[in-house]
Amino acid sequence: MVKGDKINDIIDHKLFSEDDIHEMCVRLGKQLTEDYAGKRPLVVGALKGAIYFLTDLTRQMDVAHQLDFLDVSSYGDGFESTGKIKVVTDMSADVKDRDVLIVEDIVDTGLTLKFMKDLIKKRGAKSVKCCAMLNKEACREVDVDVDYYGSKVGNEFVVGFGLDFLNMYRNIPYVGVLKPEVIQKYVNK
Ligand code: XMP
Ligand code: MG
Repeated sequence: MVKGDKINDIIDHKLFSEDDIHEMCVRLGKQLTEDYAGKRPLVVGALKGAIYFLTDLTRQMDVAHQLDFLDVSSYGDGFESTGKIKVVTDMSADVKDRDVLIVEDIVDTGLTLKFMKDLIKKRGAKSVKCCAMLNKEACREVDVDVDYYGSKVGNEFVVGFGLDFLNMYRNIPYVGVLKPEVIQKYVNK
């Protein structure tokens, strides 16, 4: 079992340090401050992965905004997309005529983001944009704009800073690549 293992036992290598992520938040926060000046956006965190990035990002935004959360599932408990998406926990705010900014941890195939954007547009939002910490651009299966992102990332399974494996390891304070044997332990279980 991997359960109980220490961070050093499960991470192969670090991809983005705490400083790297802080720099992303400062840069993106500045841009969002400019782009949303005079508006009062509704910032919608995609649960659960976005919460770590969202709290750092929004503290770099000098623009009055409101927060909400949306939990849609696409990955079940594993690490491969099922392609099926459903709302698990809906937002509480009315998005009609609002400028909505979805905050995501990572956009991979784009299926989840497209589902969220379409849902929010259908409900009458004035604008819907997305700010993601990471963009796995090469893995895209649907055409969807990631309007703002911290960094591109290759096709590696990453964990930490909100990103999970089997709903674990979100609390790792940086983004790293899991050791292949950690994944294997569960695949072969
Ligand atoms: P799609 O494929 O719909 O996926 O763009 C978006 C969601 O899938 C999760 N995801 C990952 N989670 N490491 C993770 O911990 C990864 O490398 C990864 N790739 C996709 C993530 O929850 C994202 O919101
Ligand atoms: Mg997610």
